[in-house]
Amino acid sequence: MTSSPSNPDADKPDRLRRLVEWFADAVAHDRLEIGELERRGREAGVALRRDELHDVALTWPGKQAASQLNGACDGLRLEPPVDDTPARDQLIVGDNLPVMQLLARSTPNLVDLAYIDPPYNTGRGFTFEDRFPAARGSPPPGGRGSRRRSRSGWLNFLFPRLIALRDLMSERGVLVAHIDEHEHETLVMMCKEVFGESSYLGSIVWDKGNPKGDARRVAYQHEHIVVFAKDAKSCAPLRRPKENAQRIIAAADAALRATPSLAAAREKFAAWIKEARGLSGGEAMYARISEDRRVYRLVSMAWPNKKTAPPEYFRPLAHPVTGRECPLPARGWRNPPATMDDLLRRGLIEFGKDHTTQPQRRYFLDEHMQENIPSVIRFAGSDDDRLRDLGIPFEHPKPVELSARLVSWLAAPDAVVCDCFAGSGTAGHAVWEANARDGGDRRFVLIQAPEPIAPSANRGAPEHAFRRVDEITRARLERAATQYNGGDAPAPELLVRRLVPA
Ligand SMILES: C[S@@+](CC[C@H](N)C(=O)[O-])C[C@H]1O[C@@H](n2cnc3c(N)ncnc32)[C@H](O)[C@@H]1O
Repeated sequence: MTSSPSNPDADKPDRLRRLVEWFADAVAHDRLEIGELERRGREAGVALRRDELHDVALTWPGKQAASQLNGACDGLRLEPPVDDTPARDQLIVGDNLPVMQLLARSTPNLVDLAYIDPPYNTGRGFTFEDRFPAARGSPPPGGRGSRRRSRSGWLNFLFPRLIALRDLMSERGVLVAHIDEHEHETLVMMCKEVFGESSYLGSIVWDKGNPKGDARRVAYQHEHIVVFAKDAKSCAPLRRPKENAQRIIAAADAALRATPSLAAAREKFAAWIKEARGLSGGEAMYARISEDRRVYRLVSMAWPNKKTAPPEYFRPLAHPVTGRECPLPARGWRNPPATMDDLLRRGLIEFGKDHTTQPQRRYFLDEHMQENIPSVIRFAGSDDDRLRDLGIPFEHPKPVELSARLVSWLAAPDAVVCDCFAGSGTAGHAVWEANARDGGDRRFVLIQAPEPIAPSANRGAPEHAFRRVDEITRARLERAATQYNGGDAPAPELLVRRLVPA
């Protein structure tokens, strides 16, 4: 296709006509043949990005209407009006769809971590509504009654909100969404459609260690934490600090301080590692202390693939004392000779007592304080007691400890975190907790609908008499803030805004 450099849109009608023809030709038996579309594109010199074309698509009644709700914020505004990146943490009371659309208009690219815990579509009513009748795309506020659980109703509700959230995210942005077994697969498919297949960074299994008491089916003891990037190439690699790294280094320092003999300190430290509780398998490998008093582990230098390494990767290493050749790995070394020479020069290759053992590579713990985020996280326990102490009636809040970890792993110290399904406000509390731990300056935007709370929610605590969920969110955050005014730092302030008619 050609276009005039002065006016790139000059041949638009022509391109559109051709596109319509291609689509018509590619439809056979009421299906769109992606291969045919690609062929026509190739002939015309237009490459189609296959990952943007869904040859397996999620469809449901009402999808088209749900994807066209981009004017939901017309005739509405936020009060008080504030511009730019939030200078303060905000709780916005209102339906999150128009709120996010308004925010995207005034502050595009605002959100670096979208941390959400949407209704799971369990068909039950909690403090908030979790039932989605088929015909309705927007359940709360106030939609109590129907006991039927409808997947299309839930999809029609969530789909436009994920689109609005994506449009509000920065290029480095990451979406983290809690979900359980009811809709995990559906959520992943829906997010693939909204963010693109290649933006799926994976699903973490959150093992809660407490199987549900269901006698007939698999007793689930885990939920999922689904992770998507706005753009997988622009977001930072998913990493977290090694949980026990500081503890291990402190134990080595203590062993070194306890005796002037390096050999005795090494022995003492190795014994500590053997006995220490709570170390992962990988962490427990860091059981050695180097001559320059750093903690390290040994790693095999064998060629890692099934296919044998090129011939130059088979150069033997001579033992520094006996001078004789050490055993070679069966499929060769993992590094070329130049890298092996460099490792030798820097003292990073450890030989055995004599030439009968294969040399290994040293990895220092202080150079590897971070690790990949694994696909399984074990975290038991609930925050019921914490909320009771704060005088907050809310069923099944997410634990602050888990949320704070996710925030500190996935949100840079200057990130803006958005939870558009705020509930009791755990995400905001977790941002304050993460900042307190690592000195970060993250800000949050929480959005909560003014949903009437279930009559049962105040039971046992009638003195609180909350009428709507947003009152709970606000009270929880204001009460939690008082815990973060240590030292010279004042307690964090919360700006409360509302969605109102324009
Ligand atoms: C699963 S709860 C979140 C719980 C929260 N993570 C916590 O730890 O407390 C989902 C929340 O989303 C709210 N919600 C549902 N639809 C909403 C909407 N359209 N706009 C804003 N909030 C909504 C519900 O009222 C409920 O409080």
